[in-house]
Amino acid sequence: MNNLTINGSHTEEDVYTTSPAYIQITRGIFDRLPKFKLPFPLHASYDDTLKPVFGSRASDRLTREQYEVLSRMCSQGMLFLSRRDIEAYKDLLVENLDLAVGDPCLSGLERADILSRGITAKAGAFLDQPSPATLEAVHAGVLALTGCLHADRAAINPFFQLDGDQGLPWHGFKTMIFGLAAFQKIYEGRQGRRHLDDLALGLLLHDAGMTRIPGFVVKKPTSLQILEFEKVKRHPAMGVEILRAAGIQSVDTLNCVAQHHERLDGSGYPQRCKSGEITVLGRIAAVADSLAAMTTDRPHAKARGLAECLHELARDRRRYDNTGAKALLVFVLTELS
Ligand SMILES: [Fe+2]
Ligand SMILES: [Fe+2]
Repeated sequence: MNNLTINGSHTEEDVYTTSPAYIQITRGIFDRLPKFKLPFPLHASYDDTLKPVFGSRASDRLTREQYEVLSRMCSQGMLFLSRRDIEAYKDLLVENLDLAVGDPCLSGLERADILSRGITAKAGAFLDQPSPATLEAVHAGVLALTGCLHADRAAINPFFQLDGDQGLPWHGFKTMIFGLAAFQKIYEGRQGRRHLDDLALGLLLHDAGMTRIPGFVVKKPTSLQILEFEKVKRHPAMGVEILRAAGIQSVDTLNCVAQHHERLDGSGYPQRCKSGEITVLGRIAAVADSLAAMTTDRPHAKARGLAECLHELARDRRRYDNTGAKALLVFVLTELS
C-alpha cells in the first residue's frame, strides 16, 4: 500500500499500527471466510481511497467470478474491513483463534475477548461431551493463548478486564487466567513453555468432574448436607478420570485437577494431603480456584473485589500457598493498576 490516507486525518503509520480504522484482510483470513456470502462488508483500496466492493450488503451473494476477483484483490493487499464491523470480524476469529493470535490490528483487549470466547466455547463442548476430539479443540485454543503469553507475558493483563457468566466453562477460564498470572509472576520466565501449557489445560478443566455431580447439589442455594458434600468431594477424582479417558497423560495437568481442593494443613479433599504432598501446580490451582469462586456471585455469597480476596488468601498461610497468593497479589497491585 502506498501512502493510504483514511478519513483524511491519519497517516498510514498511525492508522495501521495503533488503532486502524480499516483492517487488512490477509490471505489466512480470506481463506476462512464463508464462500459466496461474506459475514461483513469488504472495502478495496483504489489509488488512495477505500471503496465498498461487491458482497458488501448482508443480502448479497457472490458469484464464483466475484469471489475470484476478491481473492485476487486480497493477494494484492487491496482488501480491507472497516473497524465499524469489528464485532462480526471478532465472531469469525472466535472460530479461528490461530488467526486472532497473529492479527496485529487487534488491541490486546480485543484479542483477549476473542480468545476467552473461543476457549470457553471449546471447554463447554468438552464438558458436555468429553472425547479426544473435543479435547483436541480445547488444547488448540489453550496453545493459542499460551503462545501469546510465551511471546509477551503482559498479554495476560487485558484478560483481567473481561467478565463472564457463572457457568463452569467461564469458572475454568477465570481460574486458568489467575493461575497463569501467578505462575508467570513466581517464575518470571524461568519455566519452559510446556509447564505453562500443562498448567493452563489443567486449570481450565479442573472442575470437569462437577459435570457428574447432580444438578440439584451443584445449584443448591443453602449449605450442603453431609451426604451431598460427600458427592461433591468426589469431583476432583472424577475430573482426573474424565481427562485421562480423553487422552491427557500429563501428570502436571492431572495434578491441577486432582489437588485443587487440597489445603496445606490437610483440611482439604479428597485426599486430605498436607503441604509436602501437594505439588507446586496443585497449590497454584488451589489459590486460583478459590480466587475465581470468591470473585464471582455464588448462591450463598456475593462476589468480592480481586485485591480484597487476594489479601485474604495471602493471610491464610495455614491453608493456602503463600508464594502463589502473594505473587498474584503483587501482580494485581503493581501491574494491573
Ligand atoms: Fe472444584
Ligand atoms: Fe473450581
